[in-house]
Amino acid sequence: MIPVMRPWLGNEEAEAAAEAVASGWVAQGPRVQEFEEAFAAAIGAPHAVAVSSCTAALHLAMIAAGIGPGDEVIVPSLSFIATANAVRYVGAQPVFADVDLATQNLTPETVRPHLTDRTRAVILVDQAGVPADLDAIRALCDPRDIAVIEDAACAVGSIYRDRPVGASAALAAFSFHPRKLLTTGEGGMLTTPDGSIAARLRRLREHGMDISAADRHRSQQPVIEHYTEVGFNFRMTDIQAAIGLVQLRKLPEMVTRRRALAQRYQKMLSGIPGLRTAADPPCGETNYQSFWVLLPEESAMGRDDLMLLFAGAGISVRRGIMAAHLEPAYSGAKTPLPVTERLTERSLILPLFHDMTQAQQDHVVSVMTSALATSMPVMSAP
Ligand SMILES: Cc1ncc(COP(=O)(O)O)c(C=O)c1O
Repeated sequence: MIPVMRPWLGNEEAEAAAEAVASGWVAQGPRVQEFEEAFAAAIGAPHAVAVSSCTAALHLAMIAAGIGPGDEVIVPSLSFIATANAVRYVGAQPVFADVDLATQNLTPETVRPHLTDRTRAVILVDQAGVPADLDAIRALCDPRDIAVIEDAACAVGSIYRDRPVGASAALAAFSFHPRKLLTTGEGGMLTTPDGSIAARLRRLREHGMDISAADRHRSQQPVIEHYTEVGFNFRMTDIQAAIGLVQLRKLPEMVTRRRALAQRYQKMLSGIPGLRTAADPPCGETNYQSFWVLLPEESAMGRDDLMLLFAGAGISVRRGIMAAHLEPAYSGAKTPLPVTERLTERSLILPLFHDMTQAQQDHVVSVMTSALATSMPVMSAP
């Protein structure tokens, strides 16, 4: 079976993890700190705070932005459900906005109709790695004192206006789940230019403690810690951070490889009329975390039938990005979101991974091309 994604992990990561184990320090400690510093440097953000997942990062971002009950937060419905859930965790109301068809991201035009006097934040997702236009959203939100939090779960290594995604955000949240480029098994990171926010995030991820467990253990003197506010256990382990440090060094090569494979897909699929694929937006470059395709409107073949066909051919694909407003957990939200609904019903994600071979890619393309040839009037002509 050709997998939809396979992380690019090797002996170096295994050795780094083994060293962390052998050191005797396996919880959050010196390697987490080293990973944070290396990540901040790679992204070009002054501070990076490691956490247990991007979901945890988004939850803490909501708290750091002061969001709570009675507040509204505009989010794309077209996103993994964690984006909307983070708003609910703090008792606020997610308000679903539609997205742009080409980028799958929020735009000022899709956000503006949902602004009310209760809007306190927008979570801007770089969907599937495609950078969203942060400056355009901030131009809308900054004058209204609305926080913009970047959900960059998928976008490590993507470029926004010549800088790494995350570099320009007040708060950006990254995921290191194995479906992303850089993985630590599970894990996440927050970046921010604000030192006092970073310090609060560090406390919040560790039960609100005013001195970290690692610093207490380093101290030669007894230290009594205090709990400044109600916090969480959202810590990353040193074993994960050791893997993350190796993965971070490999990130540029991962992005280059994914972009080359994606361009090859685009070229080979360009003969299918009306087929749209993931692509670079005008404001930057995607890392192609997911290579999605949107079926042509004329195609009689439904997305789910096509997925079955792929499975029969030994190819693992995934449906396109989900839409939270269509799920039972959010069934109260009945805003019509036509672009979101079209994308979620008619798109799918093709396999793309670092060591994918040309033969594997050719196989995916040939299944796709012949399936659509029989389902489209133009292509089926002899
Ligand atoms: C846009 C988006 N936000 C948040 C998350 C949650 O990330 P994690 O699995 O690290 O909690 C994901 C994961 O797929 C995602 O795609």
